[in-house]
Amino acid sequence: MRLTVKDIIDKKKKHEKITALTAYDALFAKLEEEAGVDILLVGDSLGMVLLGLPSTRPVSLAQMMHHLKAVSRVSHKSLIVADMPYGTYEGSPERAVKNALSLIKEGGAHAVKLEGGREEAKTISALVASKIPVMGHLGLTPQSVEFFGGYKIQGRSTRDARKIFADARLLAGLGVFSLVLECVPKNLASKITQSVRVPTIGIGAGTGCDGQVLVVTDLLGMGEGRQYRFVREYATLRPVMLAAIRSYIEDVHSGKFPGRKESFE
Ligand code: KIV
Repeated sequence: MRLTVKDIIDKKKKHEKITALTAYDALFAKLEEEAGVDILLVGDSLGMVLLGLPSTRPVSLAQMMHHLKAVSRVSHKSLIVADMPYGTYEGSPERAVKNALSLIKEGGAHAVKLEGGREEAKTISALVASKIPVMGHLGLTPQSVEFFGGYKIQGRSTRDARKIFADARLLAGLGVFSLVLECVPKNLASKITQSVRVPTIGIGAGTGCDGQVLVVTDLLGMGEGRQYRFVREYATLRPVMLAAIRSYIEDVHSGKFPGRKESFE
């Protein structure tokens, strides 16, 4: 049976932790569902993880749609949430509703996620009024990274913490079904979690949230370079994959592949 938005909300009431992971294609969607993840997030991080883009900002609706369809085609159990790419929702509730409906009707998403607080209030209200389930996203919102001067923790000062807290309450009041809290101090995330009825999903926001989300390639250790402090690598696959590919190249060069087993008489 497919998890619904209501099931996700009920998990908070039942004090059951919610698990979410990014999924950008059929391969990972199947793996994550088999493992039992609640939410498949087709995040715009796909721009950096898969498409070699410098940030999430250049990701287009067409690119999001392409990856979303690959996920929804094979998914049967998890709730699928699609990110609304930068430039597809801001400042125009009408455009936001049109684009969100295409992600749902054409792409197969069950809900959309968009970044921002009070400045997106009208857009969020319009989406909710159009019966589109919305996941909010506060704290470090990567589409606004230019304004933060990099990927830095948000809400450290009393003023910033108050703003994030007030935005969380506002969004919950507007009818979002859940809230991603990214890179905020754990005490702030816990305070928000205790003061809103909808589940909070943390990434770099401590253990006080109702659930957690990670970029799947980070958790699998598939990326290059240093990880963010909030990531836990449950496997370190990059060196394993690299070694396997190198062995194949060596074997082709030396004539060891294909061998008898891989050849037909
Ligand atoms: O795009 C993304 O991957 C995200 C999560 C990490 C929250 O928005």
